[in-house]
Amino acid sequence: MKTYNIAVLGGDGIGPEVVAGAIAVMNHIAQKRGFAFEFKNYLAGGCAIDAVNDPMPQETIDGCKASDSVLLGAVGGEKWDTFPSHLRPETGLLRIRAELGLFANLRPAQLFKELADACPLKPRLIENGLDVLVVRELTGGIYFGDKGRDETSGYDTLKYSDYEIKRIAKVAFEVAMKRNKNVVSVDKANVLESSRVWRKFVEEVAKDYPEVKQSNMYVDNAAMQLVRNPGQFDVIVTGNMFGDILSDEAAMITGSIGMLPSASLAEGSFGLYEPVHGSAPDIAGKGIANPIATIMSVAMMFRYSLDLMEEADMIENAVAKAIAQGARTADIAVEGEKVLSTDEMTQRIIENL
Ligand code: IPM
Ligand code: MG
Repeated sequence: MKTYNIAVLGGDGIGPEVVAGAIAVMNHIAQKRGFAFEFKNYLAGGCAIDAVNDPMPQETIDGCKASDSVLLGAVGGEKWDTFPSHLRPETGLLRIRAELGLFANLRPAQLFKELADACPLKPRLIENGLDVLVVRELTGGIYFGDKGRDETSGYDTLKYSDYEIKRIAKVAFEVAMKRNKNVVSVDKANVLESSRVWRKFVEEVAKDYPEVKQSNMYVDNAAMQLVRNPGQFDVIVTGNMFGDILSDEAAMITGSIGMLPSASLAEGSFGLYEPVHGSAPDIAGKGIANPIATIMSVAMMFRYSLDLMEEADMIENAVAKAIAQGARTADIAVEGEKVLSTDEMTQRIIENL
């Protein structure tokens, strides 16, 4: 029987709880469709700092490299916020992105129409729904440039080279071909040299995709346009830091940041999949976290890494059905609605598979 090896990094807070929901869904589908998953758990984030004094142990990285795909819950929490930089969960996250070569971060921001009330924008702005995909460069730019500090100053370097820009642009155009064929590249080319180079090479890649409409936008304007008229966007491609900021903004305007999945892809088909939300320590251990973002991340894993297209659709349809039937965890329930636990929501989705 075909068996996929999945490295599981549950992480901190609600991470392990939402991951458990995703694994239940994966096992159910595998059984139904005649294949299998083998899951191996590894330490990552705060729990790894506590256990082995390293936010991303080598064993975890090796385990991920040996797997077909990686499922991550969430890392971090107040407890580790005051730790020195090399002992912070965030540092572990950056390390695994670099070590696994996860240069392309796909963050879809999609509105579930039944949850439109949660959207903070005026209803007329989302009449036609909302479906933006932020494609964020994840292993370069200011996050990974030369940096340093002394007593009175600090600096970080923002540098992008042709190959980094071309490969992320290619990912953006490829996914745009399967969507609405519209790519907006976001930069700050009126000020930054790195952005001028960015723009040059994005436009070069655009020539290979004549069917895709490509335009450029300054990041300040993009931040404004996202709340003024989000319907104008299909795919946004941008650098590491701008993508960090704009993907949070795009997620929030759907009103359901707790529902959104993400994929971090390497060259080829390898990837790491995780919910966009964090470890939510305030509700950890209560069994009330919303597992949908993680379950939707599994759909992305099926589609981008495991070539299980039908099964990916099955998951997304089952989630949409559960929502349409009124299944709600606490984060998305409005007053008077019955609130489901993490396990109950998972079961509702499984019933709809
Ligand atoms: C994200 C997070 C991370 C980032 C942090 C935790 C390092 O904000 O994945 O968006 O900035 O990339
Ligand atoms: Mg972020």
